[in-house]
Amino acid sequence: MLHGRKILVGVTGGIAAYKAAEIVSRLGKLGAEVHVAMTKGATEFIAPLTLRTLSANPVSVEMFEEPKRWNVEHIALAEHVDAVLVAPATANILAKMAVGIADDFLSTVLLAAKVPIFVAPAMNHAMYHHPATQKNLEILRSRSVKIIGPAAGFQACGTNGDGRMSEPVEVVEELVRFFTDSAMLQGKKVLVTAGGTQEPLDPVRYLGNRSSGRMGYAIAQAFREAGAETTLVSAPTELPVPYGVKRISVMTALEMHDAVLEEFPQMDVVVKAAAVADYRPKENATQKIKKQGTSLWVELVPNPDILAELGKMKTKQILVGFAAETENLINNAQDKMRRKNVDMLVANDVTRQGSGFGSLTNSVSLLFPDGRRIDLPQMNKLEVARYLRNEIAGLLGVTKE
Ligand code: CTP
Repeated sequence: MLHGRKILVGVTGGIAAYKAAEIVSRLGKLGAEVHVAMTKGATEFIAPLTLRTLSANPVSVEMFEEPKRWNVEHIALAEHVDAVLVAPATANILAKMAVGIADDFLSTVLLAAKVPIFVAPAMNHAMYHHPATQKNLEILRSRSVKIIGPAAGFQACGTNGDGRMSEPVEVVEELVRFFTDSAMLQGKKVLVTAGGTQEPLDPVRYLGNRSSGRMGYAIAQAFREAGAETTLVSAPTELPVPYGVKRISVMTALEMHDAVLEEFPQMDVVVKAAAVADYRPKENATQKIKKQGTSLWVELVPNPDILAELGKMKTKQILVGFAAETENLINNAQDKMRRKNVDMLVANDVTRQGSGFGSLTNSVSLLFPDGRRIDLPQMNKLEVARYLRNEIAGLLGVTKE
């Protein structure tokens, strides 16, 4: 499953370092070419000889040791491998990665590496929950470092809590899934819309909605992970652009309409996760509207229904819509699916706890024109996004190897 993949395993100094032996062994058995870099601390917990034997490759520890080949070794390794996995990753290496400190071999490779990076944190639960560690993880996540675990349970310090390294089998599964997914949609072009449009009333005010953009951004990330050329047409949000995704920023429904229609012909898939305003103020005052003490009447005019237009225009494209509902979820969603001529509709009851606007999780139902329906349990938005992506890949006739 990992045949031909070159993986650098970075081992740092925590008690879970002994589990790195099983990770290296499992990666090797799945066909990967494994290299190991250890910090000095890690060598106190597990002998380099163990990892050298299991990986069948030299183990790097020191920055200035005699190179095994004639090149600048940390740069060479960073360029040679397809992925780096740091397991276990101590609070210390996460902090170094977050600020870009390169003071030993492993941290230097990590700073030079342009390939996907995975970390499996392992530390005492108080260190894990410390705001500094949480902030560092957030920074790494925003740079698309993939964070595996940690798990909860008994800790070597004698307490119970979060911070145990995920089991080696789970860590390895995460890499296998990544490499299997990463080729799935190569060559496909995907457009995702996200966020809530803003319709100006005057230079300081707008009509908006509660969409955070998280679901759409997660979908764009999931498609990118699967190798698709991914474009986000995004209404204003605070979210960072997922790694490798092209973002086109828009503000109003009309701007989104123009951007989407221009991109549409060359797309294979369009996912309309954005919350588009159905109406906009007829007038956008050039000066701030002053209060007058009486009621203010604002006339609203309809915006184009972008998804419905795409439904009429589509040729080869797989078209996916969302339905944010507060009542009669399935009936309203089925009606929307037919009216807008989509190939899949994601129905979302935004009044449910842990679902919809602003939430980190979502629970949705997927509806298909042939009557098929999948009710997903509550999951985090990236998991939902990956599930949707795999379903859409199925509609494109692409399945996982
Ligand atoms: N949508 C769109 N253009 C609009 C309104 C909605 O493209 N002007 C898209 C959304 O991106 C979403 C789907 O249509 O994928 C459904 O959006 P929703 O707001 O739930 O439905 P509406 O068609 O606006 O219906 P209603 O507001 O009456 O529920």
